[in-house]
Amino acid sequence: MKALILSGGKGTRLRPLTHTGAKQLVPVANKPILWYGIESIVAAGVIDIGIIISPETGEEIKAKTGNGDCFGAKITYILQDAPLGLAHAVKVARPFLEDSPFIMYLGDNLIQDDLSSFLEAFKTQNLDALILLRTVSNPTAFGVAKVDEKGRVLQLVEKPKNPPSNLALVGLYFFSSAIHSAIASIQPSARGELEITDAIQALIERQKPVEALQLIGWWLDTGKKDDLLEANRIILDTCLQIAVDGEVDSQSQIIGRVCIGANSKIINSTIRGPVIIGENCHIENCFIGPYTSVADRVTLCDADIEHSVILQDAKVSGIHQRIVDSAIGQRARLEVAPQRPKALRFLIGDDSHIELV
Ligand code: G1P
Repeated sequence: MKALILSGGKGTRLRPLTHTGAKQLVPVANKPILWYGIESIVAAGVIDIGIIISPETGEEIKAKTGNGDCFGAKITYILQDAPLGLAHAVKVARPFLEDSPFIMYLGDNLIQDDLSSFLEAFKTQNLDALILLRTVSNPTAFGVAKVDEKGRVLQLVEKPKNPPSNLALVGLYFFSSAIHSAIASIQPSARGELEITDAIQALIERQKPVEALQLIGWWLDTGKKDDLLEANRIILDTCLQIAVDGEVDSQSQIIGRVCIGANSKIINSTIRGPVIIGENCHIENCFIGPYTSVADRVTLCDADIEHSVILQDAKVSGIHQRIVDSAIGQRARLEVAPQRPKALRFLIGDDSHIELV
């Protein structure tokens, strides 16, 4: 069994956060989204992992993620020259995949469920494809499945205008080598991509064994700011371990589940968890409220922040109106002089510099 993680694309929906980086490396609770996928694949016992990368962001993904040693995996990077679709990515990965069955995982999806039981179902039932479905309120944004009363898949359609159901295809698939001839039989869709949804539909039409299971836990497609904040909230709620490595002075209060990285200094501040703070941060005269992730080397002075994600090397100072529901990019600076508006809501890109004076 092998695994193929798709980590190409341009991340247009997460711009400007992804103007200078890969969307799969945007951190959720200070860990790149992509790494959650790698960890859950390894936890299911699959260690031979191919990662599809694009010319734009591939080098950054390689540099940050490495050869797999730190995950207990062997990672092979596979370049997809152009974003021509998920099925195209599988085509490009054929020399890596050979005729092995494989897990396919979309690198911007976060899935709570343990993959082992799905893998077991895929193997014991000798399937050519196992797909995962989840009820969503906006099915037109996904691949959608029409199923019969027994849950058998009758039809799959990619981003339909008139969805046959509200069951979306989750970005996790299990395939046998039969998928390759199905991919060879399909044509690019209206958006010019070879859709994996169409390839699975081709398997169904050939009466190959295709099954669908419903996902039980949460599933997040972190393509947009609010999804990213929601992913951050859920991960902090469910996975955060208390650990205080940095220095906390006697004027500060740490309440609830809080993790503070090495060499970070907390001065005259209140931190109410769940909150994660990275390494080498400086936090002074601040309130940091629940569901906030602060990456390494961030400086926060005279600021109130909650339910937000702050990326590396950002700096925020002089803002006592509470910053909420915000994503602040790498190296962004927010410096505010005394007269301030009442509410602030931000999606600020890397290298931005905002001054309210
Ligand atoms: C892709 C698939 C779609 C699936 C979705 C899950 O969409 O094409 O069928 O429902 O991932 O995240 P895309 O992210 O390419 O819009």
